[in-house]
Amino acid sequence: MFTPDLLHNKRILITGGGTGLGKAMAQRFLQLGATVYICGRREDVLQKSAAELSAATRGPIHAIPCDVRNLDAVEAMIDSIWKSGPLDILVNNAAGNFIARTEELSPRAFESVIGIVLLGTLHATMACGRRWLKTNHKGTVLSISATYAPVGSAYVVPSAISKAGVEALTRSLAVEWGNRGIRMNAIAPGPIPTQGAFSRLLPRPELETLALDRNPLHRFGTVEELANLAVFLISDGSGYINGEVVRMDGGEFLQGAGEFSTLGRALTNEDWEALKPRKKKT
Ligand code: HXC
Ligand code: NAP
Repeated sequence: MFTPDLLHNKRILITGGGTGLGKAMAQRFLQLGATVYICGRREDVLQKSAAELSAATRGPIHAIPCDVRNLDAVEAMIDSIWKSGPLDILVNNAAGNFIARTEELSPRAFESVIGIVLLGTLHATMACGRRWLKTNHKGTVLSISATYAPVGSAYVVPSAISKAGVEALTRSLAVEWGNRGIRMNAIAPGPIPTQGAFSRLLPRPELETLALDRNPLHRFGTVEELANLAVFLISDGSGYINGEVVRMDGGEFLQGAGEFSTLGRALTNEDWEALKPRKKKT
C-alpha cells in the first residue's frame, strides 16, 4: 500500500506499543523505515516484543518501561528519547478498559482507566507538544479512540468519558497548534481481535457473536487494516488532515444509528415481496 521508505527518518513513540494494535503499528512503521519507541508498564512484555519486531523487520526499535499515568515518568521517558533527537510522531495508544455495571465501580476503578486513557494521553501529548513548539519542530499526534466516544456507551463508562476527552483534546489542539506545525488526529476503531481488548470486553463467545451480528461486514477489523490507516494519517502525504477522528469499523456505528438498519434480519424475501405495491388493474 505504501512505498518502503515512506517513514524514513521519522522517529515515533507508540504508548502501549508492546501488545495488540500498538505492536502491529510498530511493526508496520518499522517496515516503512521509521525509528520506533514503545512504552508500557510491563518491561518483560516490551522487551519480548521489541526483540521479535527487530528480528522481523531489522528496524530500530527501543523499549522503555513507563506508566503513562505518572507525569514525572512520562517527562523522564520523553527526555531520554529527546537525548538522541526529537520525536516526529506520537501515537497515544495505551489504554485500560473493562465491562462493568457503572454503579458497582469503585473510585479507583474510575481513576485507573481515566488515568491511563485521558491523563496518559494528555501527559504524552503535552510533553511532546511543548518540546515541538519550543523548537519549531513539526509534529504529529495520532490518538486511538473508540467509536463510542462521541455518543457514550453503557458498561464502559470510564473508558467512554476518557475517549471523549481524548477526542476533545485532539480537536482543540488541532486548532490551537495547527499553525505551528503540529497535526492532531485520531482513529476510532471498531472491534479488532487483540488479547487485551477481547479478554476484557468480549469475554464470552456469545458476546463476539453479538458484535459480529451488529456489523454490516459481519467480520472484525484486522490489526493490519488499523496499521495501514495509522501510517496514512501520520505520513506527510496526509498533511492537510488535521483535527479528524477517522472511524474504522466496517460501518458498525452507522448500522446502530439507522432506524431501519435491522430490517434485513427481521424480514424475509417473502416479506419484502409482499411489501411491494400491487400492480393496479387497468
Ligand atoms: C470492576 C474493576 C475491574 C472490573 C479492575 N477493576 N477490573 N472493577 N470490574 N472488571 C478495579 C479494581 O478492583 C481496582 O479497584 C481498580 O479497578 C484498579 O484495578 P487494578 O487491577 O488494581 O489496576 P491496574 O493493575 O492498574 O489495571 C488497570 C486495568 C486493567 C484497566 C484495570 O484492566 C489493565 O491493566 N488494562 C490494560 C489493558 C486493557 O485494558 N486493554 C483493553 C483496551 S481495549 P479497587 O477499588 O478494588 O482497588 C479498549 C477499547 C475496546 O479500550 C473497544 C472494543 C470495541
Ligand atoms: P491492549 O493490547 O491491551 O493494549 C493496551 C496497551 O496499553 C498494552 O500494551 C498495555 O501495556 C498498555 N498500557 C496500559 N496501561 C498503561 C499505562 N498505565 N502506561 C503505559 N502503558 C499502558 O489492547 P488493544 O486492543 O491493542 O488496544 C489498543 C488501543 O486501541 C487502545 O487505545 C484501545 O482503547 C483502542 N481500541 C481497541 C479496540 C479493539 O477492538 N482492539 C477497539 C477500539 C479501540 P502494559 O499492560 O504493559 O502497560
